[in-house]
Amino acid sequence: MPDREATSERFADVRWLPETGSTNQYVLDAARSGAPDGLVVVADHQRAGRGRLGRTWSAPPGASLLVSVLLRPDLAPEDRHLVVMAAAVAMAEAVAATTGVIAALKWPNDLLVGHRKLAGILAEAAGDAVVVGIGVNLDWPEIPAELEGIATACNLEGGRPTLREELLAEFLAGYEVRLADLDEARTAYRAALGTIGARVRVERPDAAFVGIATDIDDKGRLLVDVDGVVETIAAGDVVHLRDA
Ligand code: BTN
Repeated sequence: MPDREATSERFADVRWLPETGSTNQYVLDAARSGAPDGLVVVADHQRAGRGRLGRTWSAPPGASLLVSVLLRPDLAPEDRHLVVMAAAVAMAEAVAATTGVIAALKWPNDLLVGHRKLAGILAEAAGDAVVVGIGVNLDWPEIPAELEGIATACNLEGGRPTLREELLAEFLAGYEVRLADLDEARTAYRAALGTIGARVRVERPDAAFVGIATDIDDKGRLLVDVDGVVETIAAGDVVHLRDA
């Protein structure tokens, strides 16, 4: 992790809401109304939290860090995935620093402990704006039965509670630094990406197949070797398979 100041200049406008539909929706609306780069919205509770691929994202009130950040990056559309990679890296670093929990990344942007999900990222665009929304399971009383073996939380892995404010401050400071050097962020993302070298099942609307993930390309797409043929995955679900 490069040297950095303890606070963030870029992310100075932090709005903390007791409740909203979705922090991503709030920030998308603000972006469409002309809000500048750097707006941060956090909610104690989301009534309609959104996940990737049209899924819902729910958490007990106050138990997760639910945050969305507005960026207006000076990047070509095909390079904007880099700010999302930088977010994944910065959040994994912030989680390690504040909770002691070491998470691996799963393509495209999940944080995992073993095979269990600790955090997820949903990036959405509005014109030149990118909204990066992150949900981190921080202090859950328990994992609900339907998520057993699928999800985990920092307190359950690290054995101690962490304040959302503490994780947020660490993340925003680190994210600002990561955004300032996206080449370095990409290198750090690739190094932390547990998907590379893993046997994976790829689930797309048109097909599902199993192969070995070998790398990411310069557009952030996952390369998967399926019996000697390289498939390029731009979107979809990837499952890390346990060794046979
Ligand atoms: C995923 O893994 O499917 C992505 C989950 C992203 C959830 C976060 S919580 C804060 C922000 N607001 C939303 O509605 N979604 C993201």
